[in-house]
Amino acid sequence: MSKETLTLIDNRTGRSYEIPIQHGTIRAMDLRQIKISEGDFGLMTYDPAFMNTSSCQSKITFIDGEKGILRYRGYPIEELAEKSTYLETAYLVLHGELPSKAELDGWVHDISYHTNIHENIKKFMDGFHHDAHTMGMLVSTVAALSTFYPDAGNIFDAELRRQQTYRLIGKMPTLAAFAYRHRLGMPYAYPDNDLSYTGNFLNMLFKMTELKYKPNPILERALDVLFILHADHEQNCSTNAMRAVGSSHVDPYCAVAAAAAALYGPLHGGANEQVLRMLTELGSKDRVPEFIKKVKAGEGRLMGFGHRVYKNFDPRAKIIKQVADQVFEVTGKNPLLDIALELERIALEDDYFIKRKLYPNVDFYSGIIYQAMGFPVEMFPVLFAIPRTSGWVAQWEEMLLDSEQKIARPRQVYLGAEKREYVPPERRQSA
Ligand code: CMC
Repeated sequence: MSKETLTLIDNRTGRSYEIPIQHGTIRAMDLRQIKISEGDFGLMTYDPAFMNTSSCQSKITFIDGEKGILRYRGYPIEELAEKSTYLETAYLVLHGELPSKAELDGWVHDISYHTNIHENIKKFMDGFHHDAHTMGMLVSTVAALSTFYPDAGNIFDAELRRQQTYRLIGKMPTLAAFAYRHRLGMPYAYPDNDLSYTGNFLNMLFKMTELKYKPNPILERALDVLFILHADHEQNCSTNAMRAVGSSHVDPYCAVAAAAAALYGPLHGGANEQVLRMLTELGSKDRVPEFIKKVKAGEGRLMGFGHRVYKNFDPRAKIIKQVADQVFEVTGKNPLLDIALELERIALEDDYFIKRKLYPNVDFYSGIIYQAMGFPVEMFPVLFAIPRTSGWVAQWEEMLLDSEQKIARPRQVYLGAEKREYVPPERRQSA
């Protein structure tokens, strides 16, 4: 019978080592015994950007990048997008199981009753410049929530963790909507707890003088599906930030702010904004071949294409295309869609993209839908951050309760100067 071990021979010493393999991995710490002398630190791995390193064991999200599979807690994303709601999915992501009817009602109630924010938050929202980016405002205000809930730092109290979870999921849409209205110079619209999670969000964004805002049910559902698709995505850049920052035992508001800051970058959740800017700049289908040529020559990237994990297709992108059709039935077709379709068609036939396994990712079509729904581009990463909050919090809690986890503190390979003596400025040679 085959053994679940790996035998390594250190050619420097001729010694051999047998290392256990579990779940298709070896433990990096098992390499530390491999030394050339007693005083040697021991062998380490070098893995910039974590290309082949698992930083945790997780039971939340499963991805098979070759087959284009995404599941939350075992449930295929396609099924959740068709049958679930965002809040139900968030419950699943956080608790591990789908809720009973009573549990779901209680959960929805608890989130809905934590949507209000302290009036003081409006004051510092007002302090932002009129054209401040909404993502910058969201990152700052969610961090500021930590000052309103000092007991949030008590992260090993399960009941307090639950409170912060309600608050984070409940208040993110409110912060986002207030940031949006601040940019427009419009009075803030308060949460309406009779509405669904996404219905209320649309209310806080778009309510004008009507007494009661009535969201369009197709757009409300479309946004809910988009939120389901964005709820979690295992160890992506922002989740890794959430876990790393949370591992210092800071409160979850500060950790979510760090995660949201990581999401803001154009290679991650900021990509949807960049896709829209790219399509707008292209302006016409005719300019697509010339643009693809530039990308292939290394002059910029085709935003919304490529993924570290998905090497066949991104299952979320497939669902988003269907959502787009439903949204365009209501809003009329976004003229940028034709440019996007042409970009996709040409790229998918091109050797450069085929060889590198570059396919449209979740961000390629989401922006076109958001724009058709009336969102300005600065809101796109915000629309990613709101639903990802449930995933961040679930991953944070899993990390806290994992007895193997400690403060995240990678090693380095030092290649700098050897020890040298300080020379006073007047005796230094100019570099
Ligand atoms: N356009 C053109 N070339 C690309 C692209 C692209 N979008 N993405 C990757 N490549 C090329 C890259 O230049 C490299 O080529 P070569 O081997 O000749 O040097 C090769 O493909 C591998 O790329 P990589 O940068 O090593 O791959 P990665 O796994 O480090 O990066 C990525 C993944 C998503 C950051 C990258 O594909 C990218 O920058 N895409 C555009 C930004 C984007 O759409 N991001 C959203 C990701 S999905 C949602 C999310 O996570 O937020």
